[in-house]
Amino acid sequence: MDARILVAYATRNGSTAEIARAIGKEFTTAGFDVDVDEIKTISTIAGYRAVIIGGPLYMGSVDGAVGKFTGTYHEHLQKVPVAAFAAGLAPKNPDPRAVEQAMGALKKSLEPLTPVELALFAGKLDPAKVNFLMRKFLEMAKIPAGDFRDWDLITAWARGLPEKMGISPAQKD
Ligand SMILES: Cc1cc2nc3c(=O)[nH]c(=O)nc-3n(C[C@H](O)[C@H](O)[C@H](O)COP(=O)(O)O)c2cc1C
Repeated sequence: MDARILVAYATRNGSTAEIARAIGKEFTTAGFDVDVDEIKTISTIAGYRAVIIGGPLYMGSVDGAVGKFTGTYHEHLQKVPVAAFAAGLAPKNPDPRAVEQAMGALKKSLEPLTPVELALFAGKLDPAKVNFLMRKFLEMAKIPAGDFRDWDLITAWARGLPEKMGISPAQKD
């Protein structure tokens, strides 16, 4: 089996892509061979021995590309360790149910997979990219604008993944 690790992500405005790349960089630093690829560019995952999946939350759901990816590749994904994360503004919502709801949406997008590790990271929202209707939705959902990505939290999560996923750089099969 190939020794590579895949970080597969969806993104609409780029902030989840940057999180995925930061995670990939930690794996590279730890000695792994890593590909960080946007889901829409992926046509096979054959050979990867571990996969990290990430996507942004929009209107209460994780971007649909994540569900399509897990659906398309579920046979392979059930045989290798999988970890997943979502990026969203729910962690900045004063209502704690927002995080619960977001974690539920993340799990739903991954079904029937049961990842070894799940995370919800605060994302980035550029108010200039939001139209009037969207702004109303965001106000109602109490979602603030700004860049809330916590790089220390993200990189610490990534550094802990090899142990949780039961993989090491030296192991080739
Ligand atoms: C129209 C819109 C709807 C959003 N809906 C949610 C949501 O339901 N829950 C959430 O936690 N974040 C929500 N967000 C925040 C995004 O998840 C956040 O900006 C994320 O970092 C975007 O990732 P991307 O830049 O990779 O597309 C929303 C943002 C926009 C613009």
